[in-house]
Amino acid sequence: MNAHRARNDQFSTLFSFARASNSSIVITDATADDAAIVFVNPSFEKMTGYGMEEVIGKNCRFLQGEDRDQPDRELIRRAMHEGSSCECLFRNYRKSGELFWNKLYLFPVRLSAEQVTHFVGVQHDVTREQNLLAELAQTASERARLIDQLELKRRHMAHLSRDLINAQENERKALARELHDELGQRLTALNLLLHRARPYFEAGEPQVLWEQAEHELGALVGLVRDMSVSLRPPGLDFFGLEPTIRQLLARHLDGGPDWVFEYAGLPVRLAPTIEISVYRIVQESVTNIVRHAQAQHVVVEINGGADGSEIELIVRDDGRGFDAASWREHAARTGRAGLAGMRERIQLLEGQIEVDSAPGRGTRITATLPLHSTENKHERDSGR
Ligand SMILES: Nc1ncnc2c1ncn2[C@@H]1O[C@H](COP(=O)(O)OP(=O)(O)OP(=O)(O)O)[C@@H](O)[C@H]1O
Ligand SMILES: [Mg+2]
Repeated sequence: MNAHRARNDQFSTLFSFARASNSSIVITDATADDAAIVFVNPSFEKMTGYGMEEVIGKNCRFLQGEDRDQPDRELIRRAMHEGSSCECLFRNYRKSGELFWNKLYLFPVRLSAEQVTHFVGVQHDVTREQNLLAELAQTASERARLIDQLELKRRHMAHLSRDLINAQENERKALARELHDELGQRLTALNLLLHRARPYFEAGEPQVLWEQAEHELGALVGLVRDMSVSLRPPGLDFFGLEPTIRQLLARHLDGGPDWVFEYAGLPVRLAPTIEISVYRIVQESVTNIVRHAQAQHVVVEINGGADGSEIELIVRDDGRGFDAASWREHAARTGRAGLAGMRERIQLLEGQIEVDSAPGRGTRITATLPLHSTENKHERDSGR
């Protein structure tokens, strides 16, 4: 009898706590069939729109309406079976039919020593939070979609850039061939004719004029050859970057400043666009050194970068240097295209360039180009 009274006391304490709570609370009878509701507090009535008398004796699942395919039902079933607690989330429906997200903390209560007598469910309407989460997820997926689109565009641009560089280089190649095979051959033939005509020129002024003509012609043949070579380095397609650049340096710098060329950490052949671009950058840098630097020493380094994923190029001289801070403005003003063209070329290939120089302090050009972009790989693998 005393035990019964004590239990009743506990009951009424539990109910008065629940009644006073600001949170929505439902208490079910763990010993009854289908866990019938024995109590709901005013906050529950406010949240769901159902009055106490309408819900007593029902199972809480009635709040789900027809919407029964909810993963957390399994959590509740297990907690009730084991007499343990759980935390779960449900789509529930108010009396008005309006959907709300119900976050439920369920825990067992033992009012007798032997068994769980009740389950208490503390519920929170988390519809706003769920809607915000859904919006966030939507925004995140929208962002991911935009990033994908941007990446596609970037790759498209990279393709276009490569096509642009290749088209330009092909034109140069055709022009170089024309110069060499047509103009060069004809000038050589002319030279031969001139040579054969020599005996017919009398000594004195005719011969002096003849010698001048032969000299001019010789210079012209040399000029056409140089133009052809600088339009398209003849060795690049056959021998690759290292020997071709060595040849370029020898042609421009032998008899001038001391020069050193280091080439390390790179495969023998690279994607053609990379090879020609690196060649062009060295070509412009070296031309600048010859034209502007008055250097004693020149160092050209080409290597595979720190982890072999890029090509790093350094050209430095100890010449007179220039004000690197204003070269871009200078380039725009004077229409000089050398350094600016170099920068554009590198940007097209998604690389970076730094021009480091100051009057009297020499010049250092550092450029990096990514080696393993998908386009480069494709270009190298597809047999050039
Ligand atoms: N290695 C260098 N040493 C000293 N000055 C340099 C060097 N490289 C470039 N410069 C200076 O920077 C200027 C810009 O160089 P850039 O290559 O853009 O133009 P340019 O060589 O004058 O003309 P272009 O290359 O169009 O024929 C040069 O005019 C020169 O004054
Ligand atoms: Mg230049």
